[in-house]
Amino acid sequence: MTRRVLVAYGTTNGSTAQLANAVAEVLREAGLAVETRPAREVTSLESCDAVVVGGALYAGRWHRDARRLVHRRRGDLAARPVWFFSSGPLDASASERDIPPVRGVRRAMIRVDARGHATFGGRLEQGAKGRMAKMIIDSGKGGDYRDFAAVRRWATGVADELTRG
Ligand SMILES: Cc1cc2nc3c(=O)[nH]c(=O)nc-3n(C[C@H](O)[C@H](O)[C@H](O)COP(=O)(O)O)c2cc1C
Repeated sequence: MTRRVLVAYGTTNGSTAQLANAVAEVLREAGLAVETRPAREVTSLESCDAVVVGGALYAGRWHRDARRLVHRRRGDLAARPVWFFSSGPLDASASERDIPPVRGVRRAMIRVDARGHATFGGRLEQGAKGRMAKMIIDSGKGGDYRDFAAVRRWATGVADELTRG
C-alpha cells in the first residue's frame, strides 16, 4: 500500500513553506502519497504513516507552530517515523557543514524518537514581518540562502528509508 506522508511546516515569512514543498516533491517522486500543511492547521495524524515537520528558526527557537504541533501530537508522532528540519541561517554555513538542531528541537527529537534532522539555509527579504526583520535587512544581512539541492538530497534519504522494504 502507498505510504502517506504529511509534511507540516511552521513559517512566518513563507520561505519554510517552500522548503516543505521541495521535500514533498521528492517524496512524491519516490511514489509516496504526500500532503503539505501549515503546522498550526494539523489537527490529526490518523491518516498518515510518517511525518516531516519543518520550522523556521527565530531567536534560537523553532517556529512556534512547529513546536506546538510536536507538543500537541507527541504521542501520535512517537508512534510513526518522523523527521524534522529547521531553516534559518542567513549565510552559507548550512551548505558548508551540518548544523545541529537547536536545544528545543533536540529535545523534541528525543521525545518523539525522530529519525533525523537537517538545518537548511534561510531567506529574509524585503517585506518580511516585524521590526527585527526590517533591521536585519536594512543592515545588509538578509538574502536567500536556501539550498534546494541540499533539501532534495536530504529528502531523498527520507524517501529511501520510507520506501525500503
Ligand atoms: C527576528 C529574526 C530572528 C531570527 N533568528 C534566527 C536564529 O536564531 N537562527 C537562525 O538560523 N535564523 C534566524 N533568523 C532567520 C530566519 O530563520 C530565516 O529568515 C528563515 O528563513 C525564515 O523562515 P520563514 O520565511 O519560513 O519565516 C531570524 C530572522 C528574524 C527576522
